[in-house]
Amino acid sequence: MTRDEKIRQLELTIDEFYRQKQISPDLTEAILYSLQAGGKRLRPLLLLELIEGFGLELTRAHYQAAAALEMIHTGSLIHDDLPAMDNDDYRRGRLTSHKKFGEDMAILAGDSLFLDPYGLLAKAELPSQVKVDLIAELSQAAGTFGMVAGQVLDMQGEGRDSSLEELKRIHANKTGKLLTYPFVAAALIAGAEPLIQDKLRRIGQLLGLAFQVRDDLLDVTASFEELGKTPQKDLAAAKSTYPALLGLEEAAAFFNDCLDQAAVLLTDVERSAVFSGTEIKKIIEGLRLNG
Ligand code: IPE
Ligand code: IPE
Ligand code: MG
Ligand code: MG
Ligand code: MG
Repeated sequence: MTRDEKIRQLELTIDEFYRQKQISPDLTEAILYSLQAGGKRLRPLLLLELIEGFGLELTRAHYQAAAALEMIHTGSLIHDDLPAMDNDDYRRGRLTSHKKFGEDMAILAGDSLFLDPYGLLAKAELPSQVKVDLIAELSQAAGTFGMVAGQVLDMQGEGRDSSLEELKRIHANKTGKLLTYPFVAAALIAGAEPLIQDKLRRIGQLLGLAFQVRDDLLDVTASFEELGKTPQKDLAAAKSTYPALLGLEEAAAFFNDCLDQAAVLLTDVERSAVFSGTEIKKIIEGLRLNG
């Protein structure tokens, strides 16, 4: 199955979940507005490719796990864009949720996207222990011990000079943990041994850090058309970023170095488990900037 076909199947899974029963059509509309706006679908794609990398055939439950992750990520974007947070008008090439539906509805759409994934996962056809582990990991990655905490640190980092160590901690939490989730979740689904799971987690952490540095580089260098969101916001908000701290060139070198390390570790996993990292390596290479 091609990447596009996987994305299509993911989107059908999300749509099916939200259309099964509706209590407030207005809420469903706001949720699907953000979910259907596109986006790179990087996190769910990583999960699906990793599961296939372990030699498993993709099932409906795997798509549900991928959908759960994309839902939490999308909720984080809706809240990230709110006036009280980054105050952005555009996301994924469309008006942000609060611009389109009002702040109240955007907050509530985000709330739904943080809560629904756990029910979706709980009902997936997977062994119970695997589901419990997937749910626990997702909660850790998303909440007080992950993304939300990272968002707090990011907010508190505005207007002050963070050290490289502090910045790494912000990125590891606000972005790194949700990007690490596909690596850990695939290992859980495939029943990989703890050593392999640890190595995959490390790869996810490297990729997660790299990905936020990439986002911060693009914030400086890319256009609205390329990003689907307003560029040059980080400087305006005096955000702590790698480009601000290291300069563009050094930040780009750091980014490339993280991707290189991730690729080397993938080869290591390929040597020690029944696993093919070919598709993941392609995704990683596809993230490089300027070819
Ligand atoms: C944007 O994530 C927010 C960050 C964590 C950097 P993505 O760049 O993956 O956003 P979409 O899903 O493609 O819109
Ligand atoms: C977002 O970081 C991290 C999230 C947890 C959503 P940014 O604030 O840099 O993401 P963009 O640039 O708005 O997508
Ligand atoms: Mg932000
Ligand atoms: Mg933002
Ligand atoms: Mg950004």
